[in-house]
Amino acid sequence: MIPPIAEARDAGRVAADAVRARAGDRYAIGIVLGSGLGALADAVEDAVRIPYGDIPGYPRSGVTSHAGMLVAGRLGGKRVIVLAGRSHTYEHGNPAAMAVPMAMLAALGCSAVFLTNAAGSLKDDMPPGSLMAIADHINLTGLNPLVGAEGDSRFVDMSSAYDPGLRKTLSAAAQHLDTGLSHGTYMWFPGPSFETPAEIRAARVLGADAVGMSTVPEAVLARYFGLRVVGLSTITNFAAGMTGTALSHEETKTVGGANADKVCRLIPAFLEEFDHDG
Ligand code: HPA
Repeated sequence: MIPPIAEARDAGRVAADAVRARAGDRYAIGIVLGSGLGALADAVEDAVRIPYGDIPGYPRSGVTSHAGMLVAGRLGGKRVIVLAGRSHTYEHGNPAAMAVPMAMLAALGCSAVFLTNAAGSLKDDMPPGSLMAIADHINLTGLNPLVGAEGDSRFVDMSSAYDPGLRKTLSAAAQHLDTGLSHGTYMWFPGPSFETPAEIRAARVLGADAVGMSTVPEAVLARYFGLRVVGLSTITNFAAGMTGTALSHEETKTVGGANADKVCRLIPAFLEEFDHDG
């Protein structure tokens, strides 16, 4: 059961208590893993693994390639909570499904969340296998996870939602590793069907560089709960209509997995430089 957004902060505290009891406290950052990035969860040192089903109020994910496991430990010298698997709006229609996880991260002391995803590229010069730091997003779905939240804090400022300082840190880490990193705007389509070629042409006119089915609700929720946000897309395909080939989740998983090693190097390098109090 996904609690109403108005109860998410309290539910996040309860979830945090359950994690704390098994894995300790005082974390620096949460990391949400997108399709094919499970290998990063395996890289966590001193790992305590907690199935989502053991955490009260925590949403399940039924998507293949999403593990459904919280992994607490150390990565890049920082205390991290890795969320291997996320709940997507297309699973149930509720954009607030990730409210408890985001509130939980804040309650565990995290000052930021690193959101990863797989995405389709709208740019010829950002082919499959590219990485894109999310500079901003477009949400014209009509859905917002904060609908039903109360008080003035629901009017969340989104003008620098993707923290410019953290994006700089990510850029520096990519440069250090000699990993190419594009920067761009991610447009949310709630799925689960892929976009049509006409939707992709419209998205391009609107200023999108990549499209995907996640991340945006989490970014809004994270800002609501006071977390800084850094976002990274693994480009798994050119968007609909750009190549004449059909899109599939199989391709997302395969290409995402094939490029996971780059992300698995980049995130720890980012964490080495991440300033929890910054
Ligand atoms: N569209 C939406 N979501 C995606 C895509 C895409 O082309 N690729 C990976 N996730």
